[in-house]
Amino acid sequence: MAILKIARMGHPVLRRAAAPVEDPAIPEIRSLAEDMLDTLADAGGVGLAAPQVHVGLRVVIVSVPAARSDTGSAIPPTVLINPEIEALSEEMAQAFEGCLSIPEMIGAVPRHTRIRYRAQGLGGEIIEGEAQGFFARVLQHECDHLDGILYPLRMTDLTMFGFNDEMRRAIGGEERNGA
Ligand code: NI
Repeated sequence: MAILKIARMGHPVLRRAAAPVEDPAIPEIRSLAEDMLDTLADAGGVGLAAPQVHVGLRVVIVSVPAARSDTGSAIPPTVLINPEIEALSEEMAQAFEGCLSIPEMIGAVPRHTRIRYRAQGLGGEIIEGEAQGFFARVLQHECDHLDGILYPLRMTDLTMFGFNDEMRRAIGGEERNGA
């Protein structure tokens, strides 16, 4: 078990596109994924991308407790390697996001409400499915990290960006925390 240091906004590793993983089944990737899961559990987030732990590879993990999911059902800890997403609808929704690389802040970000995702698992198997609501949002947030995009770059109204505690007081902004 290892808890990794999380890169914060401004670090170049968060601005670069991450490289594809050639062989998801090698032990180094499993070890990275396990350390990322430990790091996410320690930080209390719902998703983490490898560039956030200073590794420029296309690996993300997601883990959404039932209490944080808009459907009420949990997403168990899942490792997605070389993930690709595709919008299933033009419909976008705004909701507050946080990011472990932008501590204490939240912002309202428009995201597609329904997406399809496809990735590889640790054995190289294909993992695919459809996601909506909060899960779709988390996947879009994490996949953006792989392309060097942090959520403020997706925002369309920067008045909806601020410190979590201030925003909560001011407009009832709810921290759904990132990712
Ligand atoms: Ni993030």
